[in-house]
Amino acid sequence: MGKNYPTVSEEYQKAVEKCKKKLRGLIAEKKCAPIMLRLAWHSAGTFDVKTKTGGPFGTIRHSAELAHGANNGLDIAIRLLEPIKEQFPILSYADFYQLAGVVAVEITGGPEIPFHPGRPDKTEPPPEGRLPDATKGSDHLRDVFGHMGLSDKDIVALSGGHTLGRCHKERSGFEGPWTSNPLIFDNSYFKELLSGEKEGLLQLPSDKALLEDPVFRPLVEKYAADEDAFFADYAEAHLKLSELGFAEC
Ligand code: HEM
Repeated sequence: MGKNYPTVSEEYQKAVEKCKKKLRGLIAEKKCAPIMLRLAWHSAGTFDVKTKTGGPFGTIRHSAELAHGANNGLDIAIRLLEPIKEQFPILSYADFYQLAGVVAVEITGGPEIPFHPGRPDKTEPPPEGRLPDATKGSDHLRDVFGHMGLSDKDIVALSGGHTLGRCHKERSGFEGPWTSNPLIFDNSYFKELLSGEKEGLLQLPSDKALLEDPVFRPLVEKYAADEDAFFADYAEAHLKLSELGFAEC
């Protein structure tokens, strides 16, 4: 699908560049890339392709959406980001949170993801229940990502985002990181997934579902063997995710 990006002013574009630098500093200093990526993903992943509701339009900062069970703990990310946002009143929250997600991947060693500014802030929060449930399997993943308008390949590539970060018992009920280096963006999520459960590392039921599905598994194997292929597909899928419902013709 072709995109029809809005033109933003020179002043806006300059603010994006400057803000990107500030985000690099903050995310490096606080080592908070994982929660920034989770924020960007939960902000965008509520998009529903049929009704064109939800999506990366800044609504996640409002208490109605932050209170969704899936968003437990994301108030921390929003609080960390606020002092930077205050320096760039011209930027929409919608753009700002997606920029934070792109920077999180970049500064932990992941692929560069193109960023197109111009998302408007919306007011209507999405209904609860559009984000995936970690206790479920591949039918559920296809259902949830299908509603976003994303493909099987996008599901597996984006799942590699769990190369960063960890689960926190008090936020999700699960505990622990997926990889031994949760601040480095690489293909180790797929390598660990294939090598089976290890002490100290975690595999959610939804992660394990990728191994059991005949379409998902070959992609897991490909990404474990070929990091360049993972980075290329991840960048494409993340770009799509970050622009769900944005700039559509
Ligand atoms: C495929 C379905 C997915 C499920 C069921 C799922 C589930 C979860 C759960 C349960 C947590 C733990 C939250 C906590 O306790 O702090 C988590 C964390 C995280 N998720 Fe996912 N997730 C999925 C997809 C994704 C995608 C597509 C991305 C990004 C591309 C992503 C990025 C992250 C990151 C970076 C964290 C770590 C946050 C931190 O360390 O604070 N996840 N996810």
